[in-house]
Amino acid sequence: MIDLNGPGCGYVVLGDNLDVLPKLPDGSFQLIYIDPPFNTGRAQQRRTLRTRRSDQGDRRGFGGRSYATVETGRKSYLDAFDDYLGFLRPRLEHARRLLSEDGTLYFHIDYREAHYCKVMLDDIFGRECFLNEVIWAYDYGGRPKGRWPAKHDTILVYVRGPKRHYFDQDAVDRAPYMAPGLVTAEKAARGKAPTDVWWHTIVPTNGKEKTGYPNQKPEGVVRRVVQASSQPGAWVLDFFAGSGTTGAVARQLGRRFVLVDDNPEALAVMYRRLGTDGTCYLDAAGRPLRGPVAAPDL
Ligand SMILES: C[S@@+](CC[C@H](N)C(=O)[O-])C[C@H]1O[C@@H](n2cnc3c(N)ncnc32)[C@H](O)[C@@H]1O
Repeated sequence: MIDLNGPGCGYVVLGDNLDVLPKLPDGSFQLIYIDPPFNTGRAQQRRTLRTRRSDQGDRRGFGGRSYATVETGRKSYLDAFDDYLGFLRPRLEHARRLLSEDGTLYFHIDYREAHYCKVMLDDIFGRECFLNEVIWAYDYGGRPKGRWPAKHDTILVYVRGPKRHYFDQDAVDRAPYMAPGLVTAEKAARGKAPTDVWWHTIVPTNGKEKTGYPNQKPEGVVRRVVQASSQPGAWVLDFFAGSGTTGAVARQLGRRFVLVDDNPEALAVMYRRLGTDGTCYLDAAGRPLRGPVAAPDL
């Protein structure tokens, strides 16, 4: 059972979020961050590759030794919907119900569906509850020649009640000035409060943060969200949790979290990332998951 009045710091639930959300009590989350599949029309997949010593290998290394590149893992989730908005709508209606009076929803999406989703969120929340359209800009990957390469995601921000939402700009890590030579040395050292355009790298390919899960979002982006829109000790919800970035950040910042994902591979990654200290792993009916079920590929 998920007990939001207990001392626990986190829950990870394996199941379709539409089965899990109705069991959560109204108004219990100050912050919801979600990053659903973007409806790209194809499965999202990441392969993990390692280089190993092998006499049959086709690559030469130090001392003339031969090496082979082998696949050590593959993680994927489906990302094609006949009726994308029909899939999202009931889940977003629950999101609104679950927010506290001062709560905020961050909805992470890309250019394919952002405009349709904004119209639907206006309808569910009311246009007066729209707070921001945050642009996360990055610079990575291929550059097609026939159009402007798409290098940003959109994060639509809606509040439960206009002017009642919690927002602490001073708690957010400051950003460097783009032209530090144009401000005083003191200002340049302090940095500036971020605007609604966030320049941030993707998860570094060889960094400690990297889990190998497809479309993992950087902790730096989610950290701003959690710092600005939740208080220490608050409950934070992510019901398209993937590798558990929201849980990892929430825990670092002293918030409590509920993460939901229906992919056992996501659960295995979260289990490795978050461990069992203060985190409970449940099925959609609220029963504890144990051993190989909680971590299928460990
Ligand atoms: C873009 S990924 C989330 C990535 C995550 N933000 C991270 O940083 O790792 C979307 C996730 O939604 C999950 N998902 C898709 N449909 C779902 C559903 N109906 N219920 C629960 N999870 C779902 C997928 O399994 C996938 O892990």
